[in-house]
Formats: sequence, structure tokens, C-alpha cells
Amino acid sequence: MALGSAPPAGIDVVDIAFWDRPPEQRLADFARLREHGAPVYFAEPRVPFVRSGKGFHALVRHADVVEASRNAKVFSSEPAATSPEPPPWLAKVFGTPMVNMDDPEHARLRRIVFRAFTPKMLATIEDEVRAIAARIVDDVEKQGPRDFVSQVAAPFQLAVICAMMGIPERVRPYVLSRVDAMTEYSGVRGSLASPRTLRLLYGNLRAIVDLHRLVARLGRARRAEPRDDLVSALVNANPDGERLSIPELGSFFDLLLVAGNETTRNTLSHGLRLFTDHPEQRDLLMDDYDARIGPAIEELVRYVSPIIQFRRTLKRDHELNGHPFRAGDKVVLFYPAANRDPDVFDDPDSLDISRSPNPHVAFGGPGPHLCLGANLARMELKIMFWELFTRLPGLRATGEPEYLLSSFDNGITRLPFTYDR
Ligand code: HEM
Repeated sequence: MALGSAPPAGIDVVDIAFWDRPPEQRLADFARLREHGAPVYFAEPRVPFVRSGKGFHALVRHADVVEASRNAKVFSSEPAATSPEPPPWLAKVFGTPMVNMDDPEHARLRRIVFRAFTPKMLATIEDEVRAIAARIVDDVEKQGPRDFVSQVAAPFQLAVICAMMGIPERVRPYVLSRVDAMTEYSGVRGSLASPRTLRLLYGNLRAIVDLHRLVARLGRARRAEPRDDLVSALVNANPDGERLSIPELGSFFDLLLVAGNETTRNTLSHGLRLFTDHPEQRDLLMDDYDARIGPAIEELVRYVSPIIQFRRTLKRDHELNGHPFRAGDKVVLFYPAANRDPDVFDDPDSLDISRSPNPHVAFGGPGPHLCLGANLARMELKIMFWELFTRLPGLRATGEPEYLLSSFDNGITRLPFTYDR
């Protein structure tokens, strides 16, 4: 492996302390990494049974993230696109999620699960999403505003995914508890070889088993008696004879819950904080909601970058941004860094809801793994911000957010809020 240059002093994205700081400080360090030039190498500690410890080069320039996303023949998503890299036995036990696959297996799965995200399927759940948003705002009116995350952002997103999958309402709090256990292990938490890491890993595995059991039951029921819903469409063959196996349905549900749950929920919470700090942007939005909400959502996701990173492994030798990579080398694509690249975005640290063009990579760079749920996320955010801003006048955050300690999700765990009652 060609190691390339060492990181500038004081920057270690593998150290948990790096992520335990306000986002602005991390962004300042990413700016230093971008200015540094060629990709910088970070060593990862080896943790028995958990990760390989091979280390990776950080891709922080927009052009580099775009190339690694687009050129999937060189930048492979196998064996894993997440960090820390899961141990190989995990895929044998639970199946491989599509983010960790290359074509042709990835393309086959994507063709099948694309049925969940067609404009027709999204149109069929739009009314239900509206009803969920309305119910959540009703509850806020009844209970009074306390914490935006637990009262609005988290239940909204979870309800939408469960509604898509046909999970009954009474089971949803259980699903939420399992998702929290799963996401606790994501990110750099695993960078420390501590009993805590292993405990989190165990909790994560238990949660996966529980969720797989739940959807396996549902999948088998829909195979026996298909209905006009998504799970029926996924587990029964399409005209080309393709369908998800029951274990594949389990993996897909995990992915929906993790990929779809944290992301939109965190965009909503960051969005409230940002519109509180930038009231002129909110006034601009509300002045012509229908025309401005589309670009506003693109700018929110650029600015926030709800997903911080995905990983690729080089399949063959390849030069990128002056660095001679070797087959087997790892790179990590840092979306927040690419989304603030001044070579692509004017005044990148300003929130500007009318920014155009806005070629952000918050949904991933262009390529085979571009976010499947992007249009669902856009629809949900459009519906929820409308419901919130029109029904709760003067809606605003009233304190600093509490941030999730993670290198994967740019998460907010608590956000006090109020409105004029
Ligand atoms: C603001 C919201 C969201 C953001 C920022 C986001 C971000 C991303 C990113 C960066 C990737 C690329 C992975 C890669 O290149 O390896 C991705 C993939 C994916 N996302 Fe999203 N996502 C969001 C919402 C959603 C939602 C709501 C769903 C579904 C309910 C979803 C489902 C998926 C799936 C299934 C993939 C894997 C696609 C593949 O491997 O072919 N996402 N997302």
C-alpha cells in the first residue's frame, strides 16, 4: 500500500474525540484536509473479531468523492461500505445489505427493491405520510413542546417506514427500540477495543435478529396471501421472475430502518435549528413554499450532510488526486467535506435555500449506489415542514442541540423547542 502523506497535525478522524466536538470544528478540520491536497492516510486499530484495521485514505474533495462513487468498477462497495467494517461472518449470518454489494448482485437487488420507491408507490403513501405528519403535530399541540427529536422527528420517520412495510402500529415502539440498539454501534464507537464496543456489537446483533424475525413472519404471510402492499410486491415474483428471499427481505428492512430512519429524522432536527438561526431563510421559504421547498431541501441536506461517510475498497491499482492507490486499499468518502468544497460551492458555509445549481453529494455521489430513498425523503421533508410551519406559528429551537456521538450519522439526539401558543 502506498501510504501517502500523514494528516496535518491534530487531525485524527479515527479518534472518537474528533467526533465529540461541535460540527463546525470538524468542518474546519475537513477544510484543512481539503487544502492539504492528496488524500491523507489514517491508520485504524485492529479489534479482534470486529474489524480488519487496514486503515484508509480520506476523500474530502468533491471531485474525489464523485469519482469514487461513479467509478464502481475500481471503487468497490465490497466487502463493506460502512465503517467500522463488519466482520466477514456477519454477512454469512444475516445476509449482505445492498450497500455492501457490487454489480451484478447489487443491480439485481436494486431492480427488485426499486419497486418500493417508484413514483407510483410514493404517490400511494403520500396521503398516509400527510396523515402521520398531522397526527404528530396534533400530539405536540396536546402535550406541549418539549423535545423536537422524540416528539416529532423520530416518530415521524419511523411511522413512515413502518407504514411502507405494513408494520402494525402497536409493534412500532418495539421497532424503534431495536433500531436505536442497531445504530448505537455504527460509527467510530467501534474504534476502541473496549468491553463497551463488544457490548454494543452484541446489542446490535440481537436487534438485527429481532427485526429479521419480525419481517420474516410478515414476508411469509404475504407470500401465502399477497395483498396490495410493498412487502407482497417484494416477496412475490415480478414478470421477470425476480423476488426477494425471506432473508433478503430482512436485510432490506434493516437497511430501510437504518438508512431511512436516522437520515430524514436528523435533517428535520437540523432543519429546525437552521431555520431558527436563519429566520430570513425561513421567511423566504414560506413566502412561496411550493416553489422554494425543493431547492430548500437540497440546500438543507448539503449543509447538514446527514450521512457523514461511506467506504470503498479498490479493486485494482488506480491513481486519484495524485495518489497512486493499490488494489485492496480502502478509501472513506466524507460527504460533509465534499459538500463544503469551495471549488464547487460559492460561499459554502452559508445556508442559501435558493442556491442553484446545487450538485451536493449528500445522497451519495452519482453512481450505482445513489440513495434509493432520496425522493421519499424529499416528499417527507416537504410534507412535515409545511405541517409544522403552518400549524405551529413561531416554531423555533430554544437551546443548543445535543449531538449524537457518531462518525456515520450527523445526528441530533435532543432539541428543545417551542412555538407561540
Ligand atoms: C436526507 C435523507 C437521506 C440521506 C442524506 C441519505 C443518504 C444516502 C447515501 C449517502 C447513500 C449512498 C451509499 C453509498 O454510496 O454507498 C444512500 C443509499 C441508500 N439509501 Fe439513503 N439517504 C436518505 C434517505 C433515505 C431514505 C428515506 C431511505 C429509505 C427509506 C433510504 C434508503 C437508501 C438505500 C436503500 C440506499 C442503498 C442504495 C444502494 O446501495 O443501491 N435513504 N443514502
